[in-house]
Amino acid sequence: MRTLNVDLGVRSYPIHIGDGLIDRAELIVPFLRTRKAVIVTNEVVGPLYFERLRAGLVRADVEIVPIILPDGEAHKEWQTLNTIFDALLREHCERSTTLIALGGGVVGDMGGFAAACYQRGMPFIQIPTTLLAQVDSSVGGKTAINHPQGKNMIGAFHQPRLVLADTATLDTLPEREFSAGLAEVIKYGLIRDAAFFDWLEQNIDALCALEPQALAWAIERSCRNKAEVVAADETEQGERALLNLGHTFGHAIETGLGYGQWLHGEAVAAGTMMAAELSCRLGWIDSLAVARIERLFERAGLPTYGPALGAPCYLELMAHDKKVEAGKLRFVLLRCIGQAVVTGDVDMSDVGAAIEARCR
Ligand code: NAD
Ligand code: GLY
Repeated sequence: MRTLNVDLGVRSYPIHIGDGLIDRAELIVPFLRTRKAVIVTNEVVGPLYFERLRAGLVRADVEIVPIILPDGEAHKEWQTLNTIFDALLREHCERSTTLIALGGGVVGDMGGFAAACYQRGMPFIQIPTTLLAQVDSSVGGKTAINHPQGKNMIGAFHQPRLVLADTATLDTLPEREFSAGLAEVIKYGLIRDAAFFDWLEQNIDALCALEPQALAWAIERSCRNKAEVVAADETEQGERALLNLGHTFGHAIETGLGYGQWLHGEAVAAGTMMAAELSCRLGWIDSLAVARIERLFERAGLPTYGPALGAPCYLELMAHDKKVEAGKLRFVLLRCIGQAVVTGDVDMSDVGAAIEARCR
């Protein structure tokens, strides 16, 4: 097992990464405030991993309340969130009861938001079971649900007390979902870690083959990058916005097509190509760099073009982006592979042209 730390003063927490961690209740128990915990999972992950997690905790004398959600991005909304609150109240959960989110980013984001709101905040633990959740969404305390008009628009910052990434759970993850997670892994290389990008170019086939050492290294390196950014800028006043490379365009794809049509990571990959195209049009990166990025996404099994919704539709959807300031859109763009910047100094005709060039 490897352990990293997210340094946030009194709200610091460890990220444990390793094989078979779901069975190790002794890693979880010290982070519970009382001997009662709620496990929030869904109807796909529950049958695979809930019982193993529950059994270990019950053996450690912890009372467990299960909450099983419907599966999918389309359910990351108010109605589903309310079913969590209904269950927490019905089961007399207290402010000191711990909520454990067992699943991918959808369960983690929704469980975390429920934990942020219930009785004004209860402790929570992330047990991510997708690659995307293990390298990104479980770390950093962003929690949210979607709104029909915009992705992740309703949410809160609420840090977990512990992240437990059991790499063995990835064995049951569908290939398409694994590829979606690679989009966020590649993101770290692009925004701040050129050496990692080089490593990914050399090791992407090993990763796609779930080679354990390559996988553990990629997860650890991704989490290290994320932990450093979050420690420097917990609530996204500056540097943390770089983690949204490709997301302004990607969120437009997810909202425009309807949640769940494209996977989040797929939309991020196509959105990153739009950001790369725009960076190239501004003369910041050259076409060789764009081709390198495109090739890596392709080898990871990811789309490199967005759906042809039309540039005006993209721009309208992007107007709700959380990086909009004083009505002005801001973009995460690439200075080079390994260095991203946030800028509002972009001609909207270039943005439209970059979108059109990267749609089909
Ligand atoms: P997801 O949670 O929908 O999981 C993908 C699919 O895999 C689901 O059907 C799920 O039930 C299934 N699954 C999960 N673990 C499995 C396993 N081990 N074996 C088999 N099936 C499994 O999707 P995701 O890609 O994990 O997360 C995407 C969400 O994360 C989006 O809503 C996105 O907005 C959010 N996100 C949040 C942050 C953040 O910082 N909070 C960062 C990135 C993404
Ligand atoms: N996934 C973007 C962030 O955590 O800030």
